[in-house]
Amino acid sequence: MSLRRLAPPELQPASFAFNLENLARVEKEIAKYPPGRQASAVISALWIGQEQEGWVTHPMIETIGRRLDMPFIRVLEVATFYTMFNLAPVGKFHLQVCTTPPCTLRGSDDVMAVCKKLIGPAQMTPTADGMLSWTEVECLGACTNAPVFQVYKDFYEDLTAETTAKLIEAFRRGENPAAGPQAGRTGSEPAGGPATLIDPALYDGHAKPSATEGGTDSPDAEAKMPTEAASDREAPVQKPPGAAT
Ligand code: FES
Repeated sequence: MSLRRLAPPELQPASFAFNLENLARVEKEIAKYPPGRQASAVISALWIGQEQEGWVTHPMIETIGRRLDMPFIRVLEVATFYTMFNLAPVGKFHLQVCTTPPCTLRGSDDVMAVCKKLIGPAQMTPTADGMLSWTEVECLGACTNAPVFQVYKDFYEDLTAETTAKLIEAFRRGENPAAGPQAGRTGSEPAGGPATLIDPALYDGHAKPSATEGGTDSPDAEAKMPTEAASDREAPVQKPPGAAT
């Protein structure tokens, strides 16, 4: 995981103001919370600001802090914690590559290598045409379809070096390739198809209880039956006379 800091001063704009449409959106978010709890709208305000500017700027943090009556450092803490907030200018297609262990075990090193080769060696650095950038993030919550990267609100899953390269070339052309698993799955069902609960009898009302459900056709069914009463196995401990109860 990389250190998350605001972009250096030379990249910061002189000021920030929500446009009228986004100001109305922010006010609507604030109105969802009781009076005095407007700070609860901080994530929404940062997200709306990022949608407007493309990234979260220093003046934006100050503007949001003033509107929500929050110390700037509190707004900064939120912005630097969540990788959904870009702290510097990014490409039109910004790939957030998960490198947490489940994704690492399923090949995120290959995904990263392709990003470095086709986009550039340094993260958070847009290509010259402004189309692409990448960064490393923690778990995106889609581990069953690892490895994964996120582009804006879309997840691209079950990635390989080959599919990552194809997706990057499509982004470079300005296309929006279909999000989701890239290896034939439609969701998070088992790769290669289901391996359990596939007996049709399970669904026609004629299924026999399985061994694990206590069926008598199981060779070890007897072994699963209790051989002594629970009250015998868990007899109360005898206490010495006069001991507190
Ligand atoms: S570890 Fe990558 S999505 Fe969870």
